[in-house]
Amino acid sequence: MTMKTIEWIGGVDGQLNLLDQTKLPTETIILECKTPEDVFAAIRRLSVRGAPAIGVSAAYGVLLGVKNAAHQTRSEFDADLTKVCQYLAESRPTAVNLFWALDRMQFTAQSQSGLDPQAMGEVLLETAREIEREDRAMCEAIGKHGAELIPAGAGVLTHCNTGALATAGAGTAFAVLLEAHRQGKKIHVYADETRPLLQGARLTAWELLQNGIPGTLICDSMAAWVMKEGKIQAVVTGADRIAANGDSANKIGTYSVALLAKAHNIPFYIAAPSSTFDLSLPTGDSIPIEERSAEEVICGFGKQTAPSEISVYSPAFDVTPAELIAGLITEKGVIQPVTTENIAKVLQSI
Ligand code: MRU
Repeated sequence: MTMKTIEWIGGVDGQLNLLDQTKLPTETIILECKTPEDVFAAIRRLSVRGAPAIGVSAAYGVLLGVKNAAHQTRSEFDADLTKVCQYLAESRPTAVNLFWALDRMQFTAQSQSGLDPQAMGEVLLETAREIEREDRAMCEAIGKHGAELIPAGAGVLTHCNTGALATAGAGTAFAVLLEAHRQGKKIHVYADETRPLLQGARLTAWELLQNGIPGTLICDSMAAWVMKEGKIQAVVTGADRIAANGDSANKIGTYSVALLAKAHNIPFYIAAPSSTFDLSLPTGDSIPIEERSAEEVICGFGKQTAPSEISVYSPAFDVTPAELIAGLITEKGVIQPVTTENIAKVLQSI
């Protein structure tokens, strides 16, 4: 990618530049975020989206909330830090990477209670940069582990967008596809368009072209038939939150794809970094599912496609039960079979 999805410009008093994903693929516009409110709005309206990218952006967003703190006492600084973290935590509910990154920023401050606010700003900037660097490294490792699961010549179906636009690196599921392609496996990617906000059509199709990966766009309703025709040998998607037993929340429609894969005897994998696991939830039943506005379904991107008076229900995510998942591809290795014990074992390994 020539343009960076997320870029912190300057030092502690800098700004966060985000590639506005609501404008892709037709326009490449950089949003300049100078306040936590700018970052909150960018996350809420999906200008920056994808679980890891939301976490990295929120970490920098925290910095925007405390950057003018040189004249403050340490306790005033700590109170502002807590306030900005609580505020950003309200931007979207499902991707746990958001809360993971905010907790990490707060933990850093708590563990450096002797520093003055100015020094603390520098430490928090370094923590945000570290979260970004770690995400990049996790993407690379996920790609390597996952590519081993993809047979040469395979057709691989993916859902939503999980590439460089959704992370600070090469992606999660997309990194697997990219690495398999780079290894010369001659894969062909089928990208679901991913209604209602078309992350597959607008973003994954764009990233496939940018990376020269052979790919074909299909409507969500075509997946069963394409599988039946024998075009798909594996499915790989990302996740927004994975419970301790492996139940995985991802973009709405993922659960249907997993059921279809099961019906056609095709392995269904989820690729995600350890920051996407929420071991405090025993199962996926308690994962909070974001509901989005009727307007995004009735009038997506300004084009009315349904009567404006019709009632709409729009959950943005669904939960795929662990038993439908052939393996969880993490930066620490592939968790297979997907059980509570195996998840704990692999995540605790160094
Ligand atoms: O609503 P979005 O676009 O933020 O949803 C994104 C997804 O569901 C992705 O599949 C998930 O975050 C994994 S991204 C590496």
